Amino acid sequence: MVQLEINGIAISVPAGTTILEAVKGSGIEIPNLCYDKDLTAVGACRLCVVKVEGFRNLPAACSTAVQEGMRVLTEDNEVVEARKTILELMLANHPNDCMTCERTGNCRLQDYCYIYGIKSSPFSGEKKEFPIDSVNHLIERDHNKCILCGKCVRVCSEVQVINATEFTDRGFYTKVTTPFDKPLDTDYCRFCGQCIEMCPTGALINKQIKGTRPWEIKKVRTTCPFCGTGCNFDLNIKDGKVIGVSANENSPVNGRALCVKGRFHTDLIYSPDRVTKPLIREKGVLKETTWEKALNYVAENLSRIKAEYGPDSIAALSSARCTIEDNYIMQKFMRAVVGTNNVDHCART
Ligand code: FES
Repeated sequence: MVQLEINGIAISVPAGTTILEAVKGSGIEIPNLCYDKDLTAVGACRLCVVKVEGFRNLPAACSTAVQEGMRVLTEDNEVVEARKTILELMLANHPNDCMTCERTGNCRLQDYCYIYGIKSSPFSGEKKEFPIDSVNHLIERDHNKCILCGKCVRVCSEVQVINATEFTDRGFYTKVTTPFDKPLDTDYCRFCGQCIEMCPTGALINKQIKGTRPWEIKKVRTTCPFCGTGCNFDLNIKDGKVIGVSANENSPVNGRALCVKGRFHTDLIYSPDRVTKPLIREKGVLKETTWEKALNYVAENLSRIKAEYGPDSIAALSSARCTIEDNYIMQKFMRAVVGTNNVDHCART
């Protein structure tokens, strides 16, 4: 354990803990944009600078490990001025269109500008004018709003292990993009949407919930119905309709991780292709019927086939989208009633 002082309070934390992690749970807030507890700390945004006695410069709290006897000040005039300048430098090359930006109300850059009273930037000069990548139907990329924190790159590489994007070019023209700067849906991206979840600004947008302000959304936690993993997430509901999904970090199975199906395919709830009524195919055409007629039809035909060809001429396919109980009943029905072990499942693992 390492003993140190933060804002005059003596604390003791395990060796290797960073200053940012050391203040967790203490009520002390250190602003941060490029830090995430699940990702490697890179010290890219510098917003988390603090003052450490004996240090020549203001170190980044997210990437500076505690040392025995360290005395840290998380906020004083010098630190606040440094943070203000950092925010002003970010705004100098930012569209600053908060009135119409999709992330208004859910933007960390906006939050910190509010907290530190930054209305505009005193630095003028060239602004980035990258085209917006919106050709796929799930994720919109606006490089002009990117602050190059790299969280999207790290989550893609360190958590999802996809490596769909990286920093490209240098200096003013640096941006995060795919190999050869191709659109996301060319080859690389698996559309898990983890990058959207990590992005602290409006650089990455979930197109499904575009056009909705965060305060219009009611969140309801549920379990993903797509496979047997049991991931939890928050359904985003507006006016009684599910419009999208966002991760819920308290999910015991998956944390904030989601796959493309869980994150983006809730639109199937309202698909006109869903079978919502029993249908019987007559002369090649599916016709609506009652549950009684449909079940009698199935029972008569299964009995006939079993009598004519034996139970092993029948097989059942079940689904990971059904509950465990439904799947259990299906196999029980096949084994105990039909008399066959011909049972399979779309997620046969
Ligand atoms: Fe520490 Fe960005 S949060 S440098």
